[in-house]
Amino acid sequence: MVSVIRLKLISILMFYLLGTLNVLPTETASTFRHYDCTNKAKFSPKSSYQFNLNKLLSKLTSKINITNYYNTTVSGTNKRDIVYGLFMCNGYMEKCGECVSTSIQTLKSKCVFNKEAIIWTHECLVRYSDKFFPNTPEKWPSRCVRKSEDYEGELDSFNKVLSSLMDDLLTEANEAPMDSIKFAVKKITISEDQHLFGFAQCTPYLSKENCKKCLRDAMNFLQTCARGKTGGRVIYPSCIVRYDHYLFFPLPRGKRKNLGVIASIIFFHALVPVIVLFFVCYLLHRESRKDLKHRKGNCGEEISTELNSLQFELRTIQEATNKFSDDNKIGEGGFGAVYKGGFSNGLEIAVKRLKKNSSQGAIEFKKEVLLISKLQHRNLVRLLGFCVERNEKILIYEFVHNKSLDYYLSSKS
Ligand SMILES: *[C@@H]1O[C@H](CO)[C@@H](O)[C@H](O)[C@H]1NC(C)=O
Ligand SMILES: *[C@@H]1O[C@H](CO)[C@@H](O)[C@H](O)[C@H]1NC(C)=O
Repeated sequence: MVSVIRLKLISILMFYLLGTLNVLPTETASTFRHYDCTNKAKFSPKSSYQFNLNKLLSKLTSKINITNYYNTTVSGTNKRDIVYGLFMCNGYMEKCGECVSTSIQTLKSKCVFNKEAIIWTHECLVRYSDKFFPNTPEKWPSRCVRKSEDYEGELDSFNKVLSSLMDDLLTEANEAPMDSIKFAVKKITISEDQHLFGFAQCTPYLSKENCKKCLRDAMNFLQTCARGKTGGRVIYPSCIVRYDHYLFFPLPRGKRKNLGVIASIIFFHALVPVIVLFFVCYLLHRESRKDLKHRKGNCGEEISTELNSLQFELRTIQEATNKFSDDNKIGEGGFGAVYKGGFSNGLEIAVKRLKKNSSQGAIEFKKEVLLISKLQHRNLVRLLGFCVERNEKILIYEFVHNKSLDYYLSSKS
């Protein structure tokens, strides 16, 4: 009875520890890309407009590793051939060079002879035109991109929270100084375990008044077009607004207004595992005390030692398997390779080494640990321990002779 509880607690603890290895708070890759070859006006090949435009694009490109926004102008002898251009990263990024250079490539290939074009991607905006635009507020062309999932809670209170998020973003974005990117990111709480994250930004050369107006319009549009959805964004040439139910922006450094967000992240990623660990140790300790009372003669070894004894050092496993040598490999399964090995005391082991760096592996590992604790309960195969170290996730079994390899490879019994 007690050992079943122990096993459960150990697997809960392992679940938690493994879970934290896996959590990435930000979106890593995104295919978000919208462009518009806005002006129907075209220039002809080899014209001076084309010459100026190419010059403008290479001027923009020359700044991508230096700054997070830049506007420039290229004028020739003829006034008609002036080209204005701008790129702008999302304000929470110091640079977005790769984004800008791929965006420029996209415009070059998609809007070949257009005098005017704009592209929004996940991280940046690039635009050029034959008209001066940096300080004019513009709402066309525009897009509303929304999540397909509906918010499943109470919609009225969700909308209220969203409105107040938008109000805060509007105010904070405009606190930025003139001629810098006016932006704000913000987290707001819906309920204990539900939050909304927001982001708003204007192009750098808009006046505060115009920025406010642009954001206000974008927010009204967003709250209509993405009504009841878990996330959405509205993109205008002069401003961008976004909300989502997960943290999609990297945490800013040294920004006082975001201390709350940082604190909560530190709390969840550093403090909670410690608290969970203490709690589990406490429970294990209590169990062992009870155990002592019920079973005289048991020396009441500290259970935390038992937990420790399940964990193997990577070095030990490397030694036991001759550094995972091919000679020791006895098979390969979907999650990785299985090696035969031996400890210096003569105990033979089978080592299942899960594939590195795949989140799939961590999930499989969790499943595995759970299944094995069940298997162990039924005395089918004995798990000696595990090893989680330097991207390695390893399970160590007792090697049983006369058992087929499938025994170690499959999770089912
Ligand atoms: C920007 O930096 C990247 C990576 O360091 C480099 O490959 C690229 O050539 C640089 N681009 C410019 C225009 O400096
Ligand atoms: C960028 O835009 C600002 C504001 O409209 C303008 O004053 C400045 O001259 C522009 N910079 C360049 C290099 O064109």
